[in-house]
Parts: sequence; structure tokens; C-alpha cells
Amino acid sequence: MLKICHQRKILLCKWVLFAKAYSTNQPVLDVGDATKMVCKAMMSCPGAALDTALNQTGVRVSPDLVENVLKRFENAGMLAFRFFEWTEKQRNYSHSIRAYHSVIESLAKIRQYQIMWDLVNSMRKNGMLNVETFCIIMRKYARAQKVDEAIYTFNVMEKYDISPNLAAFNGLLSALCKSKNVRKAQEIFDKMKDRFVPDSKTYSILLDGWGKAPNLPKARDIFREMVDAGCDPDIVTYGIMVDVLCKAGRVDEAVEVVKEMDANNCRPTAFIFSVLVHTYGVENRIEDAINTFLEMERNGIKADVVVYNALIGAFCKANRYKNVHRVLQEMESNGINPNSRTCNVIIGSLISQGQTDRAFGVFRQLIKSCEPDADTYTMMIKMFCETNELEMALKMWRYMKSKRFVPSMHTFSVLINGLCEKGNAVKACVLMEEMIEKGIRPSGATFGRLRQLLIKEGREDVVKFLHEKINLLVKEPLFD
Ligand SMILES: *[C@@H]1O[C@H](CO)[C@@H](O)[C@H](O)[C@H]1NC(C)=O
Ligand SMILES: *[C@@H]1O[C@H](CO)[C@@H](O)[C@H](O)[C@H]1NC(C)=O
Repeated sequence: MLKICHQRKILLCKWVLFAKAYSTNQPVLDVGDATKMVCKAMMSCPGAALDTALNQTGVRVSPDLVENVLKRFENAGMLAFRFFEWTEKQRNYSHSIRAYHSVIESLAKIRQYQIMWDLVNSMRKNGMLNVETFCIIMRKYARAQKVDEAIYTFNVMEKYDISPNLAAFNGLLSALCKSKNVRKAQEIFDKMKDRFVPDSKTYSILLDGWGKAPNLPKARDIFREMVDAGCDPDIVTYGIMVDVLCKAGRVDEAVEVVKEMDANNCRPTAFIFSVLVHTYGVENRIEDAINTFLEMERNGIKADVVVYNALIGAFCKANRYKNVHRVLQEMESNGINPNSRTCNVIIGSLISQGQTDRAFGVFRQLIKSCEPDADTYTMMIKMFCETNELEMALKMWRYMKSKRFVPSMHTFSVLINGLCEKGNAVKACVLMEEMIEKGIRPSGATFGRLRQLLIKEGREDVVKFLHEKINLLVKEPLFD
């Protein structure tokens, strides 16, 4: 560990020299360049020297810059928060609501609820609180399965002088439904529906919740209740109903709903067709998938990346990679860029068939036109770990870093696990330390594996060191 710390100091010195040279030659930076400089400083100095490194950039902070940086470090809660605190001390800068919301989300992700509420109080002092603030907190609590806390957040709004309106009510129901607590959501809806006049959004949220449960009879009940209450289903409601039916294996009934929409003057969108195409793909009905796609085009609805992805997924499932290739060509000639989902569908399919070389080929081809996401990197790194190509996994990691992409907990985990498997405790420790310093808590399983390896190598001291670091993160988040 000592060696690692030493290397970091050298890195820091180099960086400071570079920053000085940079700031004297080029005093005025645009937001993009300034963001890059700040992110670089944060990546190289995530520890105690962060403030110094940030000061040394000489960057003048603006709301845009701060929002960009916070977004970039959204998975690195403590680092984002410490940057946020640093900006407070800068001249002529005060936080935007967006900056507050961004850092609140990041902190909630790592369960730093105390600091999160401190920020809510500070927003109140500045008169910046709004319904969205509470919706974010409800969402994050629900996501962490803290249902009581989510409901508490809704109930406490009034104490903060924010009136809980229909948007907040919908926010609470949505938070509960998205976190698989639809029963609780329905209970609250039944109890409070007289306090608010539910709109199509309210019903859509519950419909979606029951659909995902999955519970088709309850979903149908809500749809009926909605119509009975005189609330017209809109494009979103129809979209969810089509999705619910498709997931329940009733694609033919879903097709009927699409026809009904047309009759009700609610034109189906490419998204709704994408659900049908996707479902036919899953059901190995490739001809139906193709025909639905063509029918959409015949109806004058332009294909977007989502429906192309569904078609690609269907071809992948049917093992028709030549057609996949053709769809990609058609997308290109229609000016529709593939996205990370396109990548993930094709790569995931190839990997599951053991065609790892081709998966890597597709990765190399697609990164020319789209940005990979955390899932893409995680899949590729996992693939190389499983095919015993640890060097390639590390290369992928370095490539991701060179793109300034902040890895997620899962990305860290697959590589740490891969390194442990190969008995490379030193590299695994470096990554574990980096992960903790970014405020990301390792999962028990990942930490346990590394711990076992370290104990086998007689390095209880390192285990203790890492343990203390993790504890520091939770109990005393400021590292200082
Ligand atoms: C960074 O700059 C701020 C004000 O510009 C100052 O208060 C603070 O002490 C500096 N921090 C370090 C570590 O140099
Ligand atoms: C800070 O704001 C004040 C008043 O708005 C302005 O006069 C001053 O030039 C600004 N300072 C800097 C460093 O931008």
C-alpha cells in the first residue's frame, strides 16, 4: 500500500506542474476544457490532496461546469460531495438547484442520508427546495427498499413549506412501483385518492407497477378504473398496456390494443411497435417481428433507434447475424446512430453463444459511432476475465479510463473478481482502494473474495487497512 501511496504523490506532483503550465498559458478556458481539467484533477487526486489539486487548476467555477463534473462523478458519491463543498468556497459562485439535486442523488446512492438531509436544509435556507427535490429522495429511499422513509419524505414535505401536490403524489407512487412495492403503492393510492384528483400519469404508474409485478388481472382492474373515472388513456398508458400484455405472453391481444388506439385517434408510436417487435423476437416469431416492423414503416411511422434495437435483438435471438449487419447498414443510411443498447444487445448475444472474438469485433466497430455505457464495459471485462484473457480485461479497463468513464460498482467488481481468480492480489487491492476512494462501497461478496486471498497470502494487515477505509467511508465520510 505504501508503494501505491507513493506513486500517487508522484502523479500529483506531475499534475500540479502540468496544471501550472497550463493555467499561465491559457487563462480563459471553455466549459468543456475546464470540465476535463477538473475531472482529471479529481481522478488523480481523490484523496486528501483534492482541494489543493482543484485550487491548482485555476479554473473559475460556473454552474455549468459544476453540473457537468457532478454528473460525471454521479457514481462516486463522496468525491462528488467533496468537489461540491470545494466549489462553495469559490468566489462568485452559488449552487444551482440542479447541482444540489445531482449531489443529493449521488449521496443517496451510497446511503449518506444524513449529509443528504443537511443539503435539503441548506436548500431550504436558500429558498431552493421544490417538489422535485422530495421526489428524488423518495425515489432513492424506495430504491434502497426503505419504504417507510420514502413515505416519511412525502409526509414531511409540508414541514419544509412545500405543498404535497399531485406531482409529489405521483412521485411517491412511482418510487414505490419502480422498486417493486406496488402493493404498498396501491394501498396509499386507495387511501389518498380523494385528496388528489388522479390523472392519466397516476393510473399509468400503477398500471406499470402491476404489469411488472407481474399481475395482469390487477393491471386490467386499474385500466378499467381509469376509464370508469373518466380519465382518457393517453399514449403512455397505451404503451404500458401493450407492454404488460406482451410480457404476459398475450401479444395478439396487444395487437388488438394497438388497433383500438388507432381507432381512438391516438397514433401508435415507434416505441409501441418496438414492444411488439421485441416480443415477437423473444417468442422466436422472427417473421412476425419483421412484418410488424415493415407495417410500422408502411403506416408512415419513422423507425428510431429503439425499434431498430428491437429488430436487431430479434435477429440475434434467431442467430441471423447477417441480418443484424444489414439492419446496422440501414440505420447508417437512414442517419440513425446506434446507441449503447445496440452494442449491448449484439455483444450480449454473441457472448452468450461463446462467440467472444466476434463480440470484441462488434465492440471495436460500434465504438466508432456510439458511446459504450457501464453495462458494455462490464460485459466486455467480464468476458475477458472468463476467457482467461486478463491482459485484455485490463486493457479494456484502461480504455474505459482513457474515455474518462467513471466505472460503476459492477464494473469494479467483475475486474476485482477476475484478478482474485488469478491470484493477483496487488492489482485487486489497488482497484479496491480506488473504488472505496470514489465513495463506492464494494459488495460483501467481492470484498470477501479479496479478503480470503489476502489472508491466504498472510496479508491480514492489508485486510485491516482496507476494512478501516471502508468504515471511514460510512461513519466518517470526509476522509480527513
Ligand atoms: C484552496 O483555495 C481556497 C480559496 O481560494 C482556500 O480557502 C483554501 O485554503 C485552498 N485550499 C488548499 C488546500 O490549498
Ligand atoms: C464577481 O461578481 C461581481 C458582481 O457581480 C463582479 O463585479 C466581479 O467582477 C465578479 N468577479 C469575478 C472574479 O468574476
